[in-house]
Amino acid sequence: MNNFSILVFGASFDPPHRYHIEILKSAIREIKPSKVIIIPSFLSPFKTSHFADYRHRRKMIKMLLEKNNLKFQIDDFELKKKRKTYTYELARHLKNKHKKAVFYFLMGSDSYNLIKKWKRHKEVLKTFKIIVAQRKGYEIKNKKNILILKGKFSNLSSTQIRNRILNDDYSLIDSSIKRYIKKNSLYFSKMIKDIKKIQTRKRFNHTISTTIGAIELSKIYKADTLKAAIAALLHDITKDMELSKQLKIIKRSKMKVKDLEELSVKAPQIIHQWASAGYAKLKFKIKDKEILSAISKHTTGDKKMSLLDKIIYIADIQAMDRNFKEVKMIRRLSLKSLYLAYNKAREAKMKYIRKKSGFIYE
Ligand SMILES: [Fe+2]
Ligand SMILES: [Fe+2]
Repeated sequence: MNNFSILVFGASFDPPHRYHIEILKSAIREIKPSKVIIIPSFLSPFKTSHFADYRHRRKMIKMLLEKNNLKFQIDDFELKKKRKTYTYELARHLKNKHKKAVFYFLMGSDSYNLIKKWKRHKEVLKTFKIIVAQRKGYEIKNKKNILILKGKFSNLSSTQIRNRILNDDYSLIDSSIKRYIKKNSLYFSKMIKDIKKIQTRKRFNHTISTTIGAIELSKIYKADTLKAAIAALLHDITKDMELSKQLKIIKRSKMKVKDLEELSVKAPQIIHQWASAGYAKLKFKIKDKEILSAISKHTTGDKKMSLLDKIIYIADIQAMDRNFKEVKMIRRLSLKSLYLAYNKAREAKMKYIRKKSGFIYE
């Protein structure tokens, strides 16, 4: 009887946190494996990108596991592939490498409930014995042939933690991970520090709310999440500045604005969209055209709007600090159809401008 057992734990670790440690410790207690293998994902099949690079996520999970006195190995299988990797490929790789081992694969109930969507999931289930950690809010749908860890685990998610970091709140993460994040400017921590210095508190809160919304929309509509986050973080960066300063930034950054002179008299409140794009270029060294475009169209919109342009426009207009009549409807629509949400948002904005007898820029 072969009793060499391997516990496999793969995740994004973006960043790693208490929940990862809790479930791993519990699984080790339960199975007493001969070996623990950690697989940081290079790019999950369900994501367009991670927030931190592989090497940073790898370092952070290593630090956290060592701090918790856990014995483990990291397998860089996914890094070597340098592309989206499926779990069945990992299964083949591990079976090949450790021919006689019995494999256990650890995951949360949120992932397990989606296992039928995994490519060649039957092969995965053949290779691995599945151990599931019950996560609050994700009742395990099919309990057949799996091992369920005793107890419930904290509901902490990396998304939650990243959203806190956007607010400069590190209370949910380990102190060494916090230091690492700051030292390496991960999760936009440096950019956030700079933004906080420039914006008023109220504007900063709006910026963060817009950013969290833009990230969510980018996930739903498969847009580039990192670009969405950067565009949202910088979309109002010059809004608290004097108009004369905004105009100078536009000039220095060579942003092209139709009828700028007329606009700065008739609609000075919209100038900040070009000034912010210019400032992103000059001070934050953003060269990406899609990001700059989304910033420079976020107030007026445009006849041609890319996916990212629309995401920033909508995330801005439906941020949590907004309370105009149609906002709830736009928020609901944005989860179903970006097209409908954009049209509704534009219509609401036009109505508002007309009511105020304002200037419509087209
Ligand atoms: Fe704005
Ligand atoms: Fe805004």
